[in-house]
Amino acid sequence: MSKHKPRVFSGVQPTGNLHLGNYLGAIVRFVDLQEDHDCIYCVVDMHAITVWQDPKELMKSTREVTAAFLAAGIDAEKHIVFNQSRVSQHAELAWVLNCTARIGWLNRMTQFKEKAGKNREKASVGLYDYPVLMAADILAYHAERVPVGEDQKQHLELTRDIAQKFNNDYAERIAELGLGRTEDGGFFPLPEPLIQGPATRVMSLRDGTKKMSKSDPSDYSRINLSDDADAIAKKIRKAKTDPEPLPETVEGLEGRPEAANLVGIYAAMAGVSKEDVLKDFGGKGFAEFKPALAELVVEKLAPINAEMKRLLDDVGYIDSVLKNGAERARAIAEPIHADVKKIVGFLD
Ligand code: TYM
Repeated sequence: MSKHKPRVFSGVQPTGNLHLGNYLGAIVRFVDLQEDHDCIYCVVDMHAITVWQDPKELMKSTREVTAAFLAAGIDAEKHIVFNQSRVSQHAELAWVLNCTARIGWLNRMTQFKEKAGKNREKASVGLYDYPVLMAADILAYHAERVPVGEDQKQHLELTRDIAQKFNNDYAERIAELGLGRTEDGGFFPLPEPLIQGPATRVMSLRDGTKKMSKSDPSDYSRINLSDDADAIAKKIRKAKTDPEPLPETVEGLEGRPEAANLVGIYAAMAGVSKEDVLKDFGGKGFAEFKPALAELVVEKLAPINAEMKRLLDDVGYIDSVLKNGAERARAIAEPIHADVKKIVGFLD
């Protein structure tokens, strides 16, 4: 008999260039989890439009993220790859969960504060509501595990709070309908965040205290999955460092954010621990470490880059993957959402 495999859900926004943070913090983990999980990986186009997106660029980016998933080694036949807007249960469940989530909870979301900045009054309502749609993404499939980078931790805590409040608010009704699925009779399982590995927070190459991000105006702050070998080598050569040689131990990286970041990137890229990297490079200067790092990053990203280009030449294929994935995603989300409607008391 085949054992139940835990269900994994995660998403990536199609908002321009994917970078090394997205790759190491999320996509590499997505690939690893395929072995012993049932995975659903989503290109979250509805999240993307919480800030302005040119429609044609959005279509292009949606296909690019899909190509990156496939090129990195996600198996879209064994698992599910699709774009969010194709499965209407995400939006429908988000509405119900909007009525569960509290304004006070959303007011605490640091990502909204960062993204909205000083111009809060002009931010879209969607940007404010972003984390509730994210909760809907996960809960629509009763997903149990969610691999993400460190920056999504607070959103996942909110998802758990929303799931718990829904389970409590409707506890009697869930029991009456016999729809309890968790040990304590709840309808939604509380999803577990998976924030693992040496690169859960890849930092900017220009400032080791700032997260590597798509929105940084300096392209030298990040390595894009679309960068060629020359660009990668140049960006690593120019990366900010300090004058000391690398330490022998991980503790020695404390207070040295740029060194810690580069060692973390090396470890994640090589699939080893930071300790292992320092065994080889402790005591050596950046003049020696940087070329080795550049070589490693180029060696790992070049085949992905080439495969992405090959896939993007065949838009028809990419689109068929997304369409097929959406059909399979819908088949899971539909019955769960039908139960949500019963629980809430919507006549159907
Ligand atoms: P997004 O598109 O901003 O980022 C995609 C994934 O990349 C991770 N990430 C990083 N990891 C390490 N270092 C970095 N510098 C770095 N920058 C980004 C993010 O943590 C994320 O895992 N809200 C999500 C998308 C989403 C989602 C979901 C995720 C929508 N619905 C449901 C999980 C489950 C986001 O904005 O990711």
